[in-house]
Amino acid sequence: MSEAKKIGVLVSGRGSNLQALIDRIEAGKLDVKIAVVISDMPGAFALMRAEKAGIKTLTVNRKSYGDRASFEKAVDAALREAGCELVVLAGFMRILSPAFVAAWPHLIINIHPALLPSFPGLHGQGQAVAYGVKYSGCTVHFVDAGTDSGPIILQKVVPVLDDDTEDSLAERILAKEHEALPEAVELWAQGRLLIEGRKVKIISKK
Ligand code: GAR
Repeated sequence: MSEAKKIGVLVSGRGSNLQALIDRIEAGKLDVKIAVVISDMPGAFALMRAEKAGIKTLTVNRKSYGDRASFEKAVDAALREAGCELVVLAGFMRILSPAFVAAWPHLIINIHPALLPSFPGLHGQGQAVAYGVKYSGCTVHFVDAGTDSGPIILQKVVPVLDDDTEDSLAERILAKEHEALPEAVELWAQGRLLIEGRKVKIISKK
């Protein structure tokens, strides 16, 4: 059996999507190794989750760097040093520069709490409630130079209820995020994502 592919996970906060990846790996249902978890926020709860699972962690505090380029250089160096082949943004709340994205071509994936291209940016769930849509959900996509605009890998849908608040909808969407992100990483690890322009085709299992 070939060795599991190594991924790096970038986080900023709570880390429940990171936990979903850890749980799937520990259950033997996701054949990747998380080589490093990097947080831009010191003390992020996600770091604790990673440590508990015996995963190497690192804080690269944006405030310790003069500009975005030097901050990203440190993140890039840490990912490469750990041997990462894919970068997973799991609640990472910074926009990566076009230069960083170009250095990881179609090798960065992000989870977003809305059905893109609707409601990109911050508070995707609150935007959906305010707009009055009847369905929302989550999107896993490859990262390109825009904001939440890269080729879509998969989406999961939830209903929006009349009395939903941003928080209640976020909770319903989060349960789907925890399925979607590990699924997408698994498809990537199995070499089953074929990118043709904006489209990502899922190749069936051999
Ligand atoms: C998740 O809902 C994720 O989709 C969202 O932040 C939350 C992180 O939760 N990401 C974005 O909004 C990125 N634009 P987590 O830290 O518990 O995984």
